[in-house]
Amino acid sequence: MEMNEIKILIIEDSRADAELIEYEIRKGGVSFSAKRVDEREDFLRELEEFKPDLILADYTLPSFNGMEALSLLMEKSPDLPFIFVSGTIGEEKAIEGMKQGATDYVLKSSLSRLVPSIKRALKERQERADRKRAEENLRKSEEHYRILAEEAQKSRDAFLNMLDDVSDSYKELEKLFIGLVRAMVNALDAKSRWTRGHSERVAYFATKIAEGARMNQDQVKRIHLASLLHDIGKIGTYDVLLDKPERLTTEEFEVVKKHPAQGYDILKGIKQLRDIIPFIRHHHERIDGRGYPDGLKGDEIPLGARILHIADSFDSMTADRPYRPAPGREYAISELKRCAGTQFDAEISELFLRILEKSDI
Ligand SMILES: [Fe+2]
Repeated sequence: MEMNEIKILIIEDSRADAELIEYEIRKGGVSFSAKRVDEREDFLRELEEFKPDLILADYTLPSFNGMEALSLLMEKSPDLPFIFVSGTIGEEKAIEGMKQGATDYVLKSSLSRLVPSIKRALKERQERADRKRAEENLRKSEEHYRILAEEAQKSRDAFLNMLDDVSDSYKELEKLFIGLVRAMVNALDAKSRWTRGHSERVAYFATKIAEGARMNQDQVKRIHLASLLHDIGKIGTYDVLLDKPERLTTEEFEVVKKHPAQGYDILKGIKQLRDIIPFIRHHHERIDGRGYPDGLKGDEIPLGARILHIADSFDSMTADRPYRPAPGREYAISELKRCAGTQFDAEISELFLRILEKSDI
């Protein structure tokens, strides 16, 4: 075993014995420097100053002894190898010494055992140090990964919290937006007693139809919003023609017929409403192409607009007009049947009829 020069502290009252010991070690090929002490104070001082790698101790000295040195060492640096080298050590004392933490014992009468014992002690000490360092490294890397994992968890939590916050603010905004739309539409509808609540009712019917058609939640929301806004284009024409107690003239009706396109013009700049603006523009189109403003036919008409048209027509037929009382629910139902496939989308009107049958709308 290759060794750098080691420092050996020898506790020995006999200079001759110490020299014999050093001779033996040198003979064994161990490169070392040594100091000899035989007093308690000197021993303690040299532990600090000489900083030995190994201690060899006689068992009995005139004013100090090996067992005392051992217990002092166990307090100060228990990892230092400590070998008794004694002329007279009984088996009991030797065992007691080992129990107290001595590394080995060698009799002066068989000093040839000393070098192997020293080498073994130093090797074990090196192994202990290596193991300790490896454990320390392992502990550090475990600690490192634990911290990394914690930080990852923390940023994950922070991210999820942020998502929650964003989704909360988004929900708040959406609520605020719908609230504003409602307020605006209600103000519009309230201008005349004949249309009060019209848009909310149409939104209610259209939403029922969309849910009945198993549309997803986003689609249902879009239908609902489009329904609320479907007559927004009447802002310009409302006051003049709304309360007229007779049927509208052809010219007047032409003006009213502009409201879907006007609604489209009012909203077209709002990119968040891009998906629903076509529903508003086409809510007076008919399946047979005789509706307005664009005369679209069948599937050319967006589904949302076809739903809106039925909901809108149903509410018109069940609400009073200045020029007529409400034709009523039974009439509306018969019209839904009669005009399915010409004015109304046949499937949607059938679906709405089923919904009406099952509920007391
Ligand atoms: Fe309309």
